[in-house]
Amino acid sequence: MPECRYKAVIFDLDGVITDTAHYHYLAWKRLADSQGVPFDQQINEGLKGIDRMGSLELILAGAARSYSAAAKLALAEQKNLHYQQLIEDMTAADLLPGAVEALALVRAAGLKTGLASVSKNAFTVLDRLGIRASFDYVVDAAYIARGKPDPEIFLKAASELGVDPADCLGVEDAVAGVAAIKAAGMRALGVGDPAVLTQADAVIPGLDRFTLAAC
Ligand code: BG6
Ligand code: MG
Repeated sequence: MPECRYKAVIFDLDGVITDTAHYHYLAWKRLADSQGVPFDQQINEGLKGIDRMGSLELILAGAARSYSAAAKLALAEQKNLHYQQLIEDMTAADLLPGAVEALALVRAAGLKTGLASVSKNAFTVLDRLGIRASFDYVVDAAYIARGKPDPEIFLKAASELGVDPADCLGVEDAVAGVAAIKAAGMRALGVGDPAVLTQADAVIPGLDRFTLAAC
């Protein structure tokens, strides 16, 4: 194999490794409906990669009334409880096609693997999927001050992996996530639709098409 241009690959979780992006959508949809706020797949696209309170703010921007800080916290908690119910029965069968193979390919090439998810449920999801040990470093979202599209979470992953951001490939399904990778000075591999992930250096439909030559 020719020498790889990367030293680490840093993956997003929701929508890349597993389809939890759909569960986030379902949980936000129920919450938005309960508040009579418009919400559909198109609005949801703009929420991908955005942290819990940031997502709630975006949803409530469409509300006819205003909400106190305490009311917002209660709504966020309600959404999270529903989300946690939805992920309760997840198993390794919920890994997206190619996810395990992509992680193995990265390690076989001698590169480090990182996970950069702003989800405070990420460790739970990784454990349900049985892949926590596949990562050399997992960023704990509880210690990240600024969510995507801020580069903080990808820079933290690179720093903990001991790799220069310029030597990292970031893998993301969200517009905000791709923006965070680019702001961190990394190459960005989008997973999804090239018409949506326009800032990515390359886009694949899913990890089953992952190669280290992808971008
Ligand atoms: C991101 C998802 O990974 O995590 C967002 O793309 C989600 O949709 C965010 O809102 C926060 O997740 P959680 O589990 O902390 O509410
Ligand atoms: Mg995602």
